[in-house]
Amino acid sequence: MKIVILGTGEVCRVLAPALLSLGHEVVVGTRDPRKTMTGNPHYRLLAARHPELRLASFTNAVESADRSGLVVNAISGPACLDALVPLAAGLTGHVVMDVSSPYDWSRPDAVLDPVNTDSLGEAIQRALPGSFVVKTLNTLAAQVMPDPEVVAPDHTIFVSGDDEEAKLRVGDLLSAMGWRDVLDLGGSRTARATEMMLRMWIDASAALGTHLLGFKIVR
Ligand SMILES: NC(=O)c1ccc[n+]([C@@H]2O[C@H](COP(=O)([O-])OP(=O)(O)OC[C@H]3O[C@@H](n4cnc5c(N)ncnc54)[C@H](OP(=O)(O)O)[C@@H]3O)[C@@H](O)[C@H]2O)c1
Repeated sequence: MKIVILGTGEVCRVLAPALLSLGHEVVVGTRDPRKTMTGNPHYRLLAARHPELRLASFTNAVESADRSGLVVNAISGPACLDALVPLAAGLTGHVVMDVSSPYDWSRPDAVLDPVNTDSLGEAIQRALPGSFVVKTLNTLAAQVMPDPEVVAPDHTIFVSGDDEEAKLRVGDLLSAMGWRDVLDLGGSRTARATEMMLRMWIDASAALGTHLLGFKIVR
């Protein structure tokens, strides 16, 4: 299927090659394609390795999206809403797989925002009322997202969203990437739970000295 990844950061750099290797067509969205190709050496390297990747502005990338495919939100958490709101009309009818975290990694004193009584996943769904937002993969380091076995064969990946068909489409992609324990937590409100797991992820990573970890719900 056609997959548009909004964002050129680490998540894009890991997911794009994995999605290409699964046979998907991938278009990457950025604020300014020319600036990204000249000023983002990590992305330039990715593009050199994968000439089949297309880079476009956020708007053009969304315009190229297919309603039977997926749009991945991999934009910096604090910038997500401002970046996505102007794309709302173009994203109508699309499944948006949201991997964002409501956390500002550039600030040492950062807190989760929103938290407890709201989540970034819900805020994105409100900002994109015509889209089907599915929160997932946000409980992991980018390297683990398309390859659970980097950590272990059977840890848990969570999905949250209001639309069952959208969750099935995302679930199919997760299965293709090797996820076996896909736990549908329920509606978009449940994104609060997985977004708040970031604090545990940060502390567990520090305690273990590695980002390569995952969560397992034992039952
Ligand atoms: N990295 C991880 O291991 C990881 C794990 C779990 C969840 N996440 C979440 O996944 C998302 C992507 O993470 P990442 O590490 O790949 O990248 P990131 O550094 O968090 O974000 C990079 C992307 O955000 C865009 N961006 C930054 N500021 C912007 C602004 N003011 N307006 C519009 N766009 C802006 C950049 O646009 P340009 O392309 O134009 O520069 C770039 O495409 C984040 O929400 C992050 O919290 C990341």
